[in-house]
Amino acid sequence: MQTYRIAVIAGDGIGKEVIPAGIDVMKMASSQGHFACEFTELPWGCDFYLRSGRMMDPDWLDQVRKFDAIYLGAIGDPRVPDHVSARELILPFRQGLKQYVNLRPMRLLPGITSPLGGRAAADIDMICVRENSEGEYCGIGGRLHAGTPDELAEQTGIFTRRGIERIARYAFELARTRPRKMLASATKSNALQHAMVLWDEVVADVATDYPDVTLRKYHVDALAARMITHPQTLDVVVASNLFGDILTDIGSAISGSLGVAPGGNINPDRTTPSMFEPIHGSAPDIAGKGIANPIAAIWAGAMMLDHLGQRATHDRILAAIERVIGDARIKTPDLGGKATTADMTEAVAAALAT
Ligand code: IPM
Ligand code: MG
Repeated sequence: MQTYRIAVIAGDGIGKEVIPAGIDVMKMASSQGHFACEFTELPWGCDFYLRSGRMMDPDWLDQVRKFDAIYLGAIGDPRVPDHVSARELILPFRQGLKQYVNLRPMRLLPGITSPLGGRAAADIDMICVRENSEGEYCGIGGRLHAGTPDELAEQTGIFTRRGIERIARYAFELARTRPRKMLASATKSNALQHAMVLWDEVVADVATDYPDVTLRKYHVDALAARMITHPQTLDVVVASNLFGDILTDIGSAISGSLGVAPGGNINPDRTTPSMFEPIHGSAPDIAGKGIANPIAAIWAGAMMLDHLGQRATHDRILAAIERVIGDARIKTPDLGGKATTADMTEAVAAALAT
């Protein structure tokens, strides 16, 4: 029997609550699909940092390389500065494991009410292909004269032809598989005359290989507004690291709840494991109460199984999620209800069983 070895980093806050929910659903789905997942927990995150002064073991890269995929919960704790937790755990994974695609579906599921008035599920069905390895997040820069009036900080963005080419190609390939075959490129070449003009040029070059895909470029500010005013006109969105970060928060907010949206940090070359996570954070305000919405984590698990080659199981988990959400009887507080994480997980499991 095919067995996948999954590294699990539940992390902090509600990560510790939603990841077990996702694992339960994956175990059930894998037994139905005749494959197995072997989950190995890695205790990394902010608690680990508070004990050891590091977010993870120094040989983390060697440890995780051996796995087929990584299932991540959420990272962040009020006792640890955010730039430490992100820069010493999430971003080293994305960069070190060459997970250059951050794939984030943004869909309004039937049964959820969008904060945008009068929008139904058919109006919001986008997917963002976010560059995940360079750009504004490359981490290059420094600070000088700290604490003095002469203090300065430099934060450099790095955009490479290779990096833009591969993300654009991934986005065009994805757009080609979708019914509308549309791709929106987020740029800001009116103001960022070096990096974003290169972005536009490379995207336009790649477009010549995809005459069947309709490409439109939008300045990112206009695209952010369009996501609110005309979401039905958007299908696949390709964006740089920072632009994609911002646009996907908008996308998941208009889809009704951050508690639903999943993401994959993917190395399409498959030379290293890819990592799947709910896009929400650790939510310290509700952590420990058992009321976090597990749907984003369960959906991220489904994306992981799809990446591993189990498309049919992905589709079955998604159908179960859609049934539970569509039914709208069981809703966690983020969706306006009173259900718990366990209620929601049981409902998905029950839908999967039928
Ligand atoms: C996300 C998060 C991260 C990002 C943070 C935690 C560094 O906001 O995954 O969207 O900006 O990529
Ligand atoms: Mg973000």
